[in-house]
Amino acid sequence: MEHKNEYAVVTGGTSGIGYELAKLLAKDGYNLIISARNVDDLEKISKELKQTYHVEVLVISKDLFDPENAFALYNEIKEKGIQVDILINDQVRVSTVCSPTRISGKN
Ligand SMILES: NC(=O)c1ccc[n+]([C@@H]2O[C@H](COP(=O)([O-])OP(=O)(O)OC[C@H]3O[C@@H](n4cnc5c(N)ncnc54)[C@H](OP(=O)(O)O)[C@@H]3O)[C@@H](O)[C@H]2O)c1
Repeated sequence: MEHKNEYAVVTGGTSGIGYELAKLLAKDGYNLIISARNVDDLEKISKELKQTYHVEVLVISKDLFDPENAFALYNEIKEKGIQVDILINDQVRVSTVCSPTRISGKN
């Protein structure tokens, strides 16, 4: 597996579609930032993905139904100096400022 020095953010990354996409991204060598509300689930999935795919996995617990928390998530990632290459926004209830998109800082 090729390790990329790139990050993907997956909201709702602890269950269902988000979890499956997180695994595919990790398998392709992306480092991950996964977000959901339940801290125990985040820690469990983070450990599993690190052990299985040997990528970096950061976790950020936020309730993204609150638009303020979407900004807080953005700011936490920015403060870590991480450039996000892929955003998969998959949590169940989407706030108005957090619509599904894919972003890339590279051409
Ligand atoms: N499954 C399907 O067949 C299907 C089909 C079409 C569309 N969809 C849509 O695809 C999306 C994901 O579906 P799924 O079946 O994969 O869902 P799921 O298994 O219930 O997973 C939901 C994920 O989102 C997180 N989440 C839920 N509410 C959140 C909130 N307020 N803030 C932050 N994270 C939150 C959950 O973790 P926490 O609970 O810890 O926050 C979990 O990681 C949904 O929007 C669903 O409507 C699903």
